[in-house]
Amino acid sequence: MRDVAPVPAAGSAAVAPAAAAEPTLRELAARHGLAFGTAVDLPTLAGDAEYRAWVAAQFDTVTAENAMKWDALEPTRGRYEWGPADALVAFAQANGQRVRGHTLVWHNQNPAWLTDVPPDELGAVLKTHVQTTVRRFKGRIWQWDVVNEVFEDDGSPRDTVWLRALGPGYLADAFRWAHEADPDALLFYNDYEVEEVNAKSDGVYDLVRDLLRQGVPIHGVGLQGHLTADHAPLTMRENLGRFDALGLRTAVTEADVRMALPADPVKLQAQANVYRTALRACLVTPGCLSFTVWGYTDRYSWVPGWFEGDGAATILDENFAPKPAHRALREDLSFGGVRRRG
Ligand code: G3I
Repeated sequence: MRDVAPVPAAGSAAVAPAAAAEPTLRELAARHGLAFGTAVDLPTLAGDAEYRAWVAAQFDTVTAENAMKWDALEPTRGRYEWGPADALVAFAQANGQRVRGHTLVWHNQNPAWLTDVPPDELGAVLKTHVQTTVRRFKGRIWQWDVVNEVFEDDGSPRDTVWLRALGPGYLADAFRWAHEADPDALLFYNDYEVEEVNAKSDGVYDLVRDLLRQGVPIHGVGLQGHLTADHAPLTMRENLGRFDALGLRTAVTEADVRMALPADPVKLQAQANVYRTALRACLVTPGCLSFTVWGYTDRYSWVPGWFEGDGAATILDENFAPKPAHRALREDLSFGGVRRRG
């Protein structure tokens, strides 16, 4: 059993006094009927009181950055490590937050033992994983990222272990299995570099339209939003709009905006504009339910470890000091509000 450091239920009082006096991000977003969230690293949530306080105070939806992935939940076949995921769900319940479940079917972060499973058994193994996990959290997960990142950049299907073993029908099956396990959860397809209208998002559009036509219980599309400071997603509003027109909900699920280091005022302003472009696209889309950043402080961002020379991708610096992006998001959330589809 993996040692799970206890996560205090609520945030401590370590929120910067100035921030405590202002409306929080979640309060500002609520004016628009929008949930504002962050990815959460569970060891950090347990170990860093300042990190924990910001998560508790500023966000009303949380996503486990890694704790609900298959390799974390079932590192040994048949033996589940629910501790960290349970801790996040408990933290969310204690802080009036909803949970995005991330993610059930992916080509990444699968447990090592999966490579030993014969191809003709993979369908049953995948169904067991999906239904065991969804049942575990039945009634406590708002949105599930059921299927994650199954397209190549050109819109062609990614060659994954699942496609090879099961054929394309597994996509519909995954949504049906999840819906059977928790009929109340909103079931999403989630992907990156599909924020704008492009070949990849066209592939996503065709897939979800076909799934809807088959009566498959898919409810939403997540645009991850891993963006760069040198390019604002100018067709994101149009892209969200076409999924909305299908009657689907949408969400920005993993927003961050990386830049070549070192950061400077010009890059930070450009970053703010990119965040602003993504948020505004969501705000004007009636079915865009939530805007989640993939970590909110540069102290713990995944980016430097994955993009050599890049960083500074989040809305607070490594000392939790607000950056221009944080101010830009607050400014846009401070104005008005539109009725949003639930
Ligand atoms: O938990 C192990 C630890 O025991 C070990 O000592 C350590 C060193 O090997 O690795 C730890 O696992 C790491 C894990 O993050 C938890 O920290 C993995 O190596 C590392 O690969 C993993 O990276 C995650 C990445 O997904 C993997 O693809 C990032 O934290 C996470 O932010 C990132 O998130 C993904 C979304 O799930 C899907 N969309 C893209 C996004 C960014 O890649």
